[in-house]
Amino acid sequence: MKVAIMGYGVVGSGVAELLNKNRANIIKKSTQPGLDLKYILEVKDFPGDPNEGLIIKDFETILNDSEVGIVVETMGGMSPAYEYTLACLKAGKSVVTSNKEVVAAKGYELLKVADQMNVSYLFEASVGGGIPIIRPINQCLAANEIKEIAGILNGTTNFILTRMINDAMSFDDALKLAQEKGYAEKDPTADVEGHDACRKICILSSLSFGRHVYPEQVYTEGITKIDLADVEYARTWGGAIKLIGRAKKLDDGRITAMVSPALVEGHSQLAGVEGVFNAILVRGDATGDVVFYGRGAGKMPTASAVVADVIDIAGQCNSKKLIAWEDGGDDYVADYKLTQTAAYIRCQTQNMVAALKEVESLFGQTQPLTRQDALEGEFAFITGLMAEKDLVGLMERLTSAEVLSFIRITDY
Ligand code: HSE
Repeated sequence: MKVAIMGYGVVGSGVAELLNKNRANIIKKSTQPGLDLKYILEVKDFPGDPNEGLIIKDFETILNDSEVGIVVETMGGMSPAYEYTLACLKAGKSVVTSNKEVVAAKGYELLKVADQMNVSYLFEASVGGGIPIIRPINQCLAANEIKEIAGILNGTTNFILTRMINDAMSFDDALKLAQEKGYAEKDPTADVEGHDACRKICILSSLSFGRHVYPEQVYTEGITKIDLADVEYARTWGGAIKLIGRAKKLDDGRITAMVSPALVEGHSQLAGVEGVFNAILVRGDATGDVVFYGRGAGKMPTASAVVADVIDIAGQCNSKKLIAWEDGGDDYVADYKLTQTAAYIRCQTQNMVAALKEVESLFGQTQPLTRQDALEGEFAFITGLMAEKDLVGLMERLTSAEVLSFIRITDY
């Protein structure tokens, strides 16, 4: 059986490198003596590259070659990655991908086609980079009813927030550094606005709760509005700001799902996750909390997850790997504004006495926060627990101060 790679960027070239470097071991584990890379589909040329001779420009070459049994899709983006994946599955080839955009939007459909064609569609690398998370949820935790999942799912934003927290670096400088290190998506908007984390929580929710969750159903907020003042207040409160993707099963069978910055307490297992590392907490009814931690982005960690899927398929080429879930639905994801939450709020006022009095009369008992170097007229506090729609209603009624920041507080 031969392997083809579509997309020779950061991850695709890592996959080729790993297949070559650990060839003997990979062949032994997959029990496929001929498991070699045959084609690399890529629009660019790579003169002098060790795999230069494998580069092709025409997708049909892969599609029509019956020797190619496994296609690795590391192109990124929706099109033509989705169309090529569908064509490969329909042609009876298994597909392995790191492309969370395609899985999050089309996972239900592609898994159904894979099932019909008796092949596999695997995507361990789509969430958490090198962290094993898809297979553990699908297999190792299979006996559990999963109640909740929450995690730091984006390495770029965690890297940026860590630099802001530890070095008081500005958001722009930290983003530039993350791009130089190759962590950020081609368009960093997907990272900093939370879309990448949204796709990942969609995949994790679909897998954990058994019905497809689509990105447009998940309320998503990024980290672009986080200010160093918020970072400082979070520290004095005793925690840190993290971009958290989360999903929870409700008693009525629906779920809530959201991506947003959140304050996590210092003792939380998520608070100490720094730099490009990711951590995913899975709350099972039998296991309680299980946390998966590791490098969530980068060439070789992500390639490691892709190649593990290739080995898995090659090792059991006569039996497809079973990942499946049902389609979602318009009313499957409940309104996030009904979620109970406490929040951190930072305000600016011209009249501190009046503003504090108004906050007390609207929000009741709150926890005031202080920081060194607070600006004139600035104040911040932690609210009690209430439905988010009620919190928003109270903020709208506040007339003697302007709300500059609103960050939810988690209990993970
Ligand atoms: N841009 C993504 C991240 C890459 O920073 O986490 C891994 O999915």
